[in-house]
Amino acid sequence: MADLYFRRHRRLRQSAGIRSMVKETYLHKEDLIYPIFVMDGENIKNPVNSMPGVFQFSLDRLGEEVDEVVTLGIPSVILFGLPATKDAEGTQAYHDHGIVQKAIRFIKDRHPNLVVIADTCLCEFTDHGHCGVVDEHERILNDPSLDLLAKTAVSQAQAGADIIAPSNMMDGFVTAIRQGLDRAGFQDVPIMSYAVKYASAYYGPFREAADGAPKFGDRKTYQMDYSNRMEAIREATSDMEEGADFLIVKPALAYLDIIRDVRNNFDAPIVAYNVSGEYAMVKAAAINGWINEKETVLETLTGMKRAGADIILTYHAKDVARWLEEK
Ligand code: PBG
Ligand code: ZN
Repeated sequence: MADLYFRRHRRLRQSAGIRSMVKETYLHKEDLIYPIFVMDGENIKNPVNSMPGVFQFSLDRLGEEVDEVVTLGIPSVILFGLPATKDAEGTQAYHDHGIVQKAIRFIKDRHPNLVVIADTCLCEFTDHGHCGVVDEHERILNDPSLDLLAKTAVSQAQAGADIIAPSNMMDGFVTAIRQGLDRAGFQDVPIMSYAVKYASAYYGPFREAADGAPKFGDRKTYQMDYSNRMEAIREATSDMEEGADFLIVKPALAYLDIIRDVRNNFDAPIVAYNVSGEYAMVKAAAINGWINEKETVLETLTGMKRAGADIILTYHAKDVARWLEEK
C-alpha cells in the first residue's frame, strides 16, 4: 500500500487558508439585484404571505427600504408595481404618473447612484392579468402588445430608469423597445432582457406579491416549455440580434444547465433570476428549522454563479449582503 500512487485531492482542503486559495467562485454583494414591490396608497408596508421578509410599499414608506439597500452596498433594485386601477390595455403601465414611474423618480431623487431597473410588462396593469393585449377569443396578441410595451419602456426611461427589463415574452419586444427608446432619445439606456423565461409554477408567490396572476388560462403560449433546452438558444439568439445588453434566465434553480448553455454561447452579462417560489421554499424550510437558511442560500446562489451567472436577481439580496459582511 505504501508505494501505491493515487491523487490526494484532500491536500487542498486541509485548512481554511488553503481552501480559500483554491476557491473558484465568489459571490459578491455587487452581483445582486433586489426586487421591490411598490403600490399606490399611504403608510403601507404589507407583508407578502408566501414570501416572509418581502413587503409591498407605498411611496411614503419606500424610503426606509431603499435606504437599507444602499447602506448594505447592494448596487441595484428592480421595481414591480401594483397600480390603483387596471384595464384591458394596462394604461397605468405607461402613465407618466403611474406607480412605477413615481417610484423611479422618488428613488433616483433620494439615491442618484442606486441603479434602478424597471420591469417592463403589462400583467400587473391589465384587468385580465396577461402580459400583452388579449382579443375576444382570449388569445394573447403579439404585435399589438409591442407598441404598449415600447410606450411603457419609454415612460419608465423618462422617469429616470437606468435599465429597462422587459419580462413579457412577446416576440420582437427587444426590437420594439430599443426603437422606442432610441427615438425618444434614450440610446444609452440598456435593455436587460428576460430572454429565456419558462412558464413556471415557481412564479406562484410573485403573483400574490405583484397581484399579477392571469384571470384566465396560463402563460404557456408566450413563456417557454420547461422541457426545452435548444429553445433557450433560439430565444437568446434573437434577443442578442435585436440588441439586448443583458440576458436573464428565469427561473434559476431548476435551470442551471440553461444558465451554463447561455453563458457558453453568448457574450453578454448573464442574470440568474432566483424567483419567488425558490425563495419561498427556502424560507418555509428555514422557519421550520429544517435547514440552515444562511448556508443554504449561499450555496444555492454560489451554484448559480458557478453555472455561469454574472448577476443574481434575488429576494435574498439584503440577507446575502449582510452574511457576506459577516464572513
Ligand atoms: C411578470 C413577471 C413574473 C415574474 C417577474 N415578472 C411572473 C409571471 O411571468 O407570471 C416572476 C418573478 C418571480 O417569481 O419572482 N411578467
Ligand atoms: Zn407579465
